Amino acid sequence: MTDEHYLPQAPSGTHDVLPPASARWEALLVIFADLAERYGFALVHTPMFEDARVFRRGIGEASEVVGKEMYEFTDRGGRSLALRPEGTASVVRAFVQHRPATPWRAWYATPSFRYERPQAGRYRQHHQVGVEALGTDDPDLDVEVIALASHFYDALGVTQRQLRINSMGDPECRPAYVDALRAFLAAHSAELCEEHEERYSLNPLRVLDCKKASCVLVTQAAPMIDAALCDGCAEHHRRVVEGLAAAGIDAVPDPRLVRGLDYYMRTTFEFSSSALEGSQNAIGGGGRYDGLAEALGGPATPGIGFGIGIERVLLACDAEDAFVIEPPRPEAFVVDVTGGEAARDLVEALRNRGIFVERSYDDRSMKSQFKAADRSGAPLALVLGRDEVESGSVTIRRLREQSDQVTISMTELLARAEETGTIL
Ligand code: HAM
Repeated sequence: MTDEHYLPQAPSGTHDVLPPASARWEALLVIFADLAERYGFALVHTPMFEDARVFRRGIGEASEVVGKEMYEFTDRGGRSLALRPEGTASVVRAFVQHRPATPWRAWYATPSFRYERPQAGRYRQHHQVGVEALGTDDPDLDVEVIALASHFYDALGVTQRQLRINSMGDPECRPAYVDALRAFLAAHSAELCEEHEERYSLNPLRVLDCKKASCVLVTQAAPMIDAALCDGCAEHHRRVVEGLAAAGIDAVPDPRLVRGLDYYMRTTFEFSSSALEGSQNAIGGGGRYDGLAEALGGPATPGIGFGIGIERVLLACDAEDAFVIEPPRPEAFVVDVTGGEAARDLVEALRNRGIFVERSYDDRSMKSQFKAADRSGAPLALVLGRDEVESGSVTIRRLREQSDQVTISMTELLARAEETGTIL
């Protein structure tokens, strides 16, 4: 398309979040922040891009997220940078760089960029709220992190959900398990799907996650990791499962749950919504990454966290008719028929006292201002006519009920706002 015919639009796989829908995003973030802070997490912001090696080393060269989906670019100084495809690697990079005291608990809300095939629930820029906790491998922390995610869904009203949990083992037991799985797949490679027939050997664990009927069938008889865990991993997993049960959180053990990022070790988990379509039904996931800080050049430091896709979880809410948020409405709409200066001063004075008020601009007719007042949803109109302006008063008219209007002094109105935080 020539530049002349180009009509600017948001890039494919991205979207604008505008009012009134944005009111839900705002409410979601407040709920998440409150909950995360109650669990001892504090807000962190890290740059939206990093040296590409942070993600290569952190998430793993062989993962799809890094190998196929990362937005990489060279800046004007010749540096190889990448937009963050997820939150964990950056937060752990910040931990390694600043070495805060442990346990260190960070929460975040961040856009994430992945060059995926755009479809409902799968975007090139999506947004996550998440937490990361570094400095202890106590299984109680796994329970806390999973409980926090679970209470967040509760708070939004997402009830049709399932939590699956697994252990990915550790460097002591995983290599032998992966070898055994690879040997099993080698013996059945001709029966695997087209992609995995060729690629199973590179990352055999991914075959367990393949949704194609052929792979599902073959792997039914494959060795599973739960039977191959070393004593340390088995005990850790037992404690997590027990802790979740004690917290009243249903978790389904799923030895096929292998997540797409290579840093995971021991506990992994995923929440899915049964109200959403199969391949886009993951509404959040996470796990332990006890080797990640070391991989990024820091001291060996265990860690665990999760990321929840904001768009996905809102889709799950839609599917359940949950988390319906009304955008905030002004308490009052100022109608000024004297030219607008009185409205200018009154809205400023009220807003200064914490009141949400609206007004019209451009010296509209009284009729048009009352129409706008109606549309705004405000229960009150504060009318400023010549008499009011001359006497320093304001007439209050209730817009949603039949009642007489009253005229009070401006001083009284402002004092009321100041004292009570409302003029209703
Ligand atoms: P993830 O499973 O790759 O994990 O992503 C977390 C969540 O982000 C997914 O469950 C899904 O809700 C959402 N999501 C992922 N990709 C997309 C997409 N293309 N479009 C829309 N939503 C998407 C992580 O990113 C890890 N950092 C989670 C974690 C934190 N593990 C430990 N700490």
